[in-house]
Amino acid sequence: MPEEVRSTSDSEGVVTHRFPPGFVWGAATAAFQIEGSTTVDGRTDSIWDEFCRRPGAVCDGDTGDPAVDHYRRYERDVALMAELGLGAYRFSIAWPRVRPDGGEVNPRGLDFYERLVDLLLDNGIAPWATFYHWDLPQALEERGGWTNRDTAYRFAEYVDAVLGRLGDRVPVWTTLNEPWCSAFLGYASGIHAPGRTEPRAAVAAVHHLLLAHGLGIAAVRAQAPAADAGVTLNLFPVEAADPDSPADREAARIVDGLQNRIFLDPVLRGAYPADMVEHLAPYGLTEHIQDGDLELISAPLDLLGVNYYRGHMVSGAPDNAPQGPSDWIGAEHVRFLSTGMPLTDSGWEVQPPGLLDTLIRVHQDYPAIPLHITENGAAYRDVFADDGTIRDVDRIEFLDAHLRAAHAAIERGVDLRGYFYWSLLDNFEWAEGYAKRFGIVHVDYTTQVRTPKQSARWYAKVISDNGF
Ligand code: FCB
Repeated sequence: MPEEVRSTSDSEGVVTHRFPPGFVWGAATAAFQIEGSTTVDGRTDSIWDEFCRRPGAVCDGDTGDPAVDHYRRYERDVALMAELGLGAYRFSIAWPRVRPDGGEVNPRGLDFYERLVDLLLDNGIAPWATFYHWDLPQALEERGGWTNRDTAYRFAEYVDAVLGRLGDRVPVWTTLNEPWCSAFLGYASGIHAPGRTEPRAAVAAVHHLLLAHGLGIAAVRAQAPAADAGVTLNLFPVEAADPDSPADREAARIVDGLQNRIFLDPVLRGAYPADMVEHLAPYGLTEHIQDGDLELISAPLDLLGVNYYRGHMVSGAPDNAPQGPSDWIGAEHVRFLSTGMPLTDSGWEVQPPGLLDTLIRVHQDYPAIPLHITENGAAYRDVFADDGTIRDVDRIEFLDAHLRAAHAAIERGVDLRGYFYWSLLDNFEWAEGYAKRFGIVHVDYTTQVRTPKQSARWYAKVISDNGF
């Protein structure tokens, strides 16, 4: 461990957590969650525009318009990032702006991202661009979406179009954000777009998303050889409720397989985990794998993005009644239990030690790869105090605890190089609509006024001190 990273305490016992020089401090967003302007400059529908129209699919019938109107207010938002001292900004590019309908390139869509990227660079903020954060063109869904292998090739064309315009100046590209959500929430439980509840379709989607990732990496290598490239996965530590119970341990193995290893193993080791191949045989996993796919999928990466929110504690009692459409294909009787930790406004337990466990697990179980926490954050019911400030102490505590865990991972030898808070701004939280506020910057959805919360000031100080 580099000496400067060691935690130190002063004469009053105040511990300082210093991060390694060059540690990347950022914040993250995603196109559909912030941009709005869903029908302008040639953009067409994504699966999320369509899903929002489905009665009952999204809380309060909320939609992606106007979201936080970032498409028109990006200059103000970049100024805000500069005020907070962000070193990097992770955002996603909207496929339906760049290749509406999955077809011809729309230069006006690319113009927007070019303006955004150039402004970030002018402000000394590194643009970290994600090609796919869930907004598949609806026209491609109508041809089968991620169940159709062809979607991966259409993705590669889209990536090529983006690289043709921006490949010379974006330093870091990520192919996909959380393919677990796209596949399982989108096609198995149906709580996300496109809202399908077909386990076999979800399994096909897993492979085609991974193939898209592999094709995307090949495109970055060919067109932007100086850039770094990777993928972002949402990883969860999974614990058996009773470690002495074979049924609970079995549930933990399956949930870990479906949540984590089914993506980690092909990407970092070049093969699906043998137990998942067996588990998913009835759902056709191997039918989709063609010669050469796993070589593409496991092409060397420069970084792995880890999104961490919480862990799972599971019970596998065989007499648990099976649930309705579930993300846990072939394990619908598994139950997710509370560990008793406090909850965020999303009902998610606050479990900072799980971040340390997750980072150490990837570090120990997989070939060496630089890690970045590409998302971590919490929704709380923020309220304005009389003086017009938002004292989101709970979010500061959340950040503090997770940054301690991140720092502990570095002290334990994990090659962790960056942290991105989710999210810069309050925004459209998918099926939860605008009800959950994750931002360090508050957005008034009526006036679009941005107000940095106290957590934003706290985080800005961490960034300027490279520690806390
Ligand atoms: C992640 C998503 C991100 C955001 C956070 C809260 O799963 O990647 O878009 O919704 O959860």
